[in-house]
Amino acid sequence: MSGTTSVGGTSVSSTLFRTKTVEQSIQDTEEPEHALKKSLSALDLTVFGVGVIIGTGIFVLTGKIAKENAGPSVALSFVVAGVVCALAALCYAEFASTVPVAGSAYTFSYASLGEFPAWLIGWDLILELALGCAVVAVGWSGYIQSLLDSAGLRMPQPLSGTHGGEFGFDLLACLLVLALTCVLVVGMKLSSRVTGVVVAIKVTVVLIVIVVGAFFITGSNYDPFIPPAEHTSGSSDITAPLIQLMFGYTPTNFGVMGIFTAAAVVFFAFIGFDIVATAAEETRNPQRDVPRGILGSLLICTVLYVAVSIVVTGMQKYTDLTVDAPLADAFKAVGHPFWAGLISFGAAVGLTSVCMILLLGQTRVFFAMSRDGLIPQTFSKVHPRFGTPYRSTILLGGVVAIVAGFTSISELAELVNIGTLSAFVVVAAGIILLRRSRPDLHRAFRTPLVPWIPALSILASLWLMLNLPAETWLRFGAWMVIGVVVYFFYGRHHSRLGKGMPRRPTPPAKGDDSQIPYP
Ligand code: ALA
Repeated sequence: MSGTTSVGGTSVSSTLFRTKTVEQSIQDTEEPEHALKKSLSALDLTVFGVGVIIGTGIFVLTGKIAKENAGPSVALSFVVAGVVCALAALCYAEFASTVPVAGSAYTFSYASLGEFPAWLIGWDLILELALGCAVVAVGWSGYIQSLLDSAGLRMPQPLSGTHGGEFGFDLLACLLVLALTCVLVVGMKLSSRVTGVVVAIKVTVVLIVIVVGAFFITGSNYDPFIPPAEHTSGSSDITAPLIQLMFGYTPTNFGVMGIFTAAAVVFFAFIGFDIVATAAEETRNPQRDVPRGILGSLLICTVLYVAVSIVVTGMQKYTDLTVDAPLADAFKAVGHPFWAGLISFGAAVGLTSVCMILLLGQTRVFFAMSRDGLIPQTFSKVHPRFGTPYRSTILLGGVVAIVAGFTSISELAELVNIGTLSAFVVVAAGIILLRRSRPDLHRAFRTPLVPWIPALSILASLWLMLNLPAETWLRFGAWMVIGVVVYFFYGRHHSRLGKGMPRRPTPPAKGDDSQIPYP
C-alpha cells in the first residue's frame, strides 16, 4: 500500500493530490449500500461498446465532414481518429483491469494522480456524457422528423428544433431523454433486452449500407480523393482550428490539414469505448473481460466506419452529400428510396441506444463522485427496489432533456470531443504514474511499451485537440473554471477521503435483483 493517502488538516497541495488507494476504491464498491451487481461478460461489454459507439458520428457527421472538410478522404480521418482511440484504449484497458470500479477515468485518476485531477476529469466526463447524450438525442429527432416527413406528417416549427438559425424547441429530443431516464431508473432487465435488439438493428443497417451501397459506387466520385486545400475565413477567426491560428496559417478546409480537422470532429463517432470501462465494477471477471470488451468493440467499429465512409463517398459526390441524413440520402440519390427508408429507421433506432448508454455512463460517473463525497452523497443512494442510482439518474436525465431541447448538433460535438480527448490525456498520464507508484498491483492487462505507448497516446490526443476550433477551447476552459470553483467551495471540504471516513457499517440494500442497465 502506498503512503499517499492523506487526510484533513494537511497542506493545500497535499490535500489536492491526496489519492484514494486502489484497494480503497475496490473496497468502496463492496459496501452493501453502494454495491452494484456483477453480472456482465466480455460479450456483454462488446455489445455494450458497439451499442454506444456507433451513432451520430457515422450516421450524421460523416456527410457534413466529407462535404465541408475532407471529401472522400474522410475515410482517412476515421483511420486517424481510430488510431488515436486505439492508443487510448490500450491505456484504458490497463486501468480498467487494475481498478475495476465504476467511474472510468475519474476513478483511475483518483487512484493515480490525486483528488483534484480526479475531480477535474469527473467534471470533464459529465460534460462529455451529458452533451454527448444531448447531441445524439437531437440527431435522433432529426431522423424521426425525416421519417415523419416521408409519411406526410410534420412537427410544428416551434417544437421541431433549431434549423438554419431559426430557433425551435426540440420536443422529440427532450421526450426521448425523459423516456430513457425512466428506463434507466427501472433497471437492467428492461433496458438490457431493449439494448440488445437495438444494437442488432443498428449493426444490420450499417452492414446494409456497406454491402448494398457497394453496388452503387461510381469510381469518378473518388476523384479527387483528397480535395485541394481551400482558404476559409480570416486567420483571426476563432472558429478556425487552434493549430492553424497558433502557427499563423490562413485557415483552410480540405487538403492534408483537412484530414486532421475532420478527424478531430469524426472522433465523436468513437466516443463510447471509454464508457465500457465504467462498467468494470459490474463485470464478472473485469481483469480479463474489460480489456476484451474495450478493444473488441473499438476494432469492430473502426472497420465499419472506414467501410461506410468509402462506400458513401463513392455513391455520391462529396459535394452533394446531405448534412442531416447522409447515409439514407445517398441511397435516395441513386434511386433506391426503399433502402433509404430502412436506413433512416435503423439509424433512429440505433441512436436511441447511444443516447441511453451515454446517459447511463454519466450517471455512473456522478454516482462514483457522489460516493466519494465530492458531490452530495445523497446522489449515490441505490434504489431499494430497482438497485439503480435513481437520484443521480433523475437529476441528470432532467438536465440533459432540457439541454437537448435547446441545442443544435455541430458545436456541441466539438465540445464533447475536447472533453473526451483531455480525459484520454489524463488516463495515459495515470498509467505511467501508477506503474511507478504501485508496481506491485496485479494488472491482468498491461499496456505494451510503457511509457512509450501512453506518451504517444498523450501526444496523439493533444494533436486532435489542437485541430479543434479555438472557440471550442474557450468554451471548454469556461466549463473547467466552473468545475474548479465547485471543487473549492464544496468537494474539497466534503470529500470522504479528506475526512478520513471509516467504512460505514450499513445494512444490505433491499432488492437482490439490483441490476444496472447494461446489456
Ligand atoms: N460515438 C457515439 C456517436 O457517434 C457517441 O453517436
